[in-house]
Amino acid sequence: MPAGAPRRRCPYPSGGGQEARLTQSCGEGDRCMAAERSDAFVFFGATGDLAFKQIFPALLGLSRDEGFDLPVIGVARSGDLDSLRERARQSLAAAGIVDGAAIGSLTARLRYVKGSDDDVETFHALRRELGDARHPLHYLAVPPALFGEVVTNLAASGCAAGARVILEKPFGRDLASAIALNATVHEVFDEPAIFRIDHYLGKEPVQNLLYFRFANSFLEPLWNRDHVASVQVNMPEAFDVADRGAFYDQAGAVRDVVQNHLLQVVSLLGMEPPSGHTGEAIRDGQFKVLDSIRALTPKDVVRGQYRGYREVRGVAPGSTVETFAALRLHIDTWRWGGVPFYIRTGKSLPVSATEVLVELKRPPQSVFAESEPPDADYFRFRLSPDMAISLGARAKKPGEALVGEAVELYACHQSGTERPPYQRLIGDATRGDQALFAREDSVEAAWRVVDGILDDRAPLHDYEPGTWGPSEAAGILAHGDRWHDPAGAAPATTT
Ligand code: BG6
Repeated sequence: MPAGAPRRRCPYPSGGGQEARLTQSCGEGDRCMAAERSDAFVFFGATGDLAFKQIFPALLGLSRDEGFDLPVIGVARSGDLDSLRERARQSLAAAGIVDGAAIGSLTARLRYVKGSDDDVETFHALRRELGDARHPLHYLAVPPALFGEVVTNLAASGCAAGARVILEKPFGRDLASAIALNATVHEVFDEPAIFRIDHYLGKEPVQNLLYFRFANSFLEPLWNRDHVASVQVNMPEAFDVADRGAFYDQAGAVRDVVQNHLLQVVSLLGMEPPSGHTGEAIRDGQFKVLDSIRALTPKDVVRGQYRGYREVRGVAPGSTVETFAALRLHIDTWRWGGVPFYIRTGKSLPVSATEVLVELKRPPQSVFAESEPPDADYFRFRLSPDMAISLGARAKKPGEALVGEAVELYACHQSGTERPPYQRLIGDATRGDQALFAREDSVEAAWRVVDGILDDRAPLHDYEPGTWGPSEAAGILAHGDRWHDPAGAAPATTT
């Protein structure tokens, strides 16, 4: 176990007369029940935005494609079972799902507990509704500030025994609150029962980063400071914060997507070859990268806010929350010493796309007398909206002169059959498979990286919607580097 890795104890009593189906090991051997399939799915915040946009469609996909047949219990403050069923139907219609039989089967399995998260009676009612279920999976689709209370009430009502819990991001607001939250959650659940969800880890193209890096031998000799000049991860979004003003104004770009999604991508790009194919070996590798990133200071970041953000419903009139962030990271390892890793993300930028660009060093000498200095070679990984991998290189232009042009060797994959991230991740959690969830140590390491740039520590610059953010973003690039704007795509919708 690496230094700093969480102590992992089996959350379940050994034995219990139930057959174990192992997908992971907690050290308890084949009597371990940590891999027992969950036998009920509970979601708090059942009438909320996340349930509407992600959880209902994921449950439908699981039922339709993977035989998911667990009872599904929604917990919320308002409404009743009929209104929850209607909300599920509306959610599925909004997701374009028209399979009447599958919709009917899911809504028939829905149950409902009305009550508030701070009232232990709600949880006693939930325990009664769970009936014979002994291994419920609780999804906390509620604001992170409520996690502690919900977890405590789960324990007080007997709902936590033998259970697993899924926690939405952002996990905490900063390093101190994340440590405190981990401690609170650990009072009730041990690490193998805790699933900190980051839907980026469930995305096929993000998984492919890991696969492509370690399934091909040609990459490894190049994948280091001798050959890589810089790495950048761009995640522009063409849409604004729309109806998410109240949530977003409590977060900002760094908490919303940098601390989690984009640092997870960096960890997959930067990690050493895992020492095995287990989820833990990969999570160990990711943790080591995050742990090696130098803590950011205000001079490593440019924060921006699009004009008009303060007029959005739910946003404080004088808000200084950033809707744009550009950052420069350093991974202090032998492999990456001196190689800048850049991250840039923002709302209301010109396109919606997520792309990684790994720029290689130029040849040591210019052999051909070209008038323009040629662009460097690169690997480009397009993670959304389409999935592509390309290698940028130089090739000679036909003709007598030894003059070249930039070419791209391009492989695109778009099968459309991939399981959506929430479907994949909820399914994994029901089986106790933590491979694609953020581990305690990694979450804290990622907060340590951004802790020094949160809130107003760095100045805020305005930018016009539809532009690439404040011009100051160029200032954090090392000499000779430039931002690589991903190619346009139809604006995606918010999640
Ligand atoms: C969410 C953020 O976690 O990720 C959103 O809260 C962001 O602000 C979204 O738009 C991006 O995810 P995706 O899957 O649409 O790239």
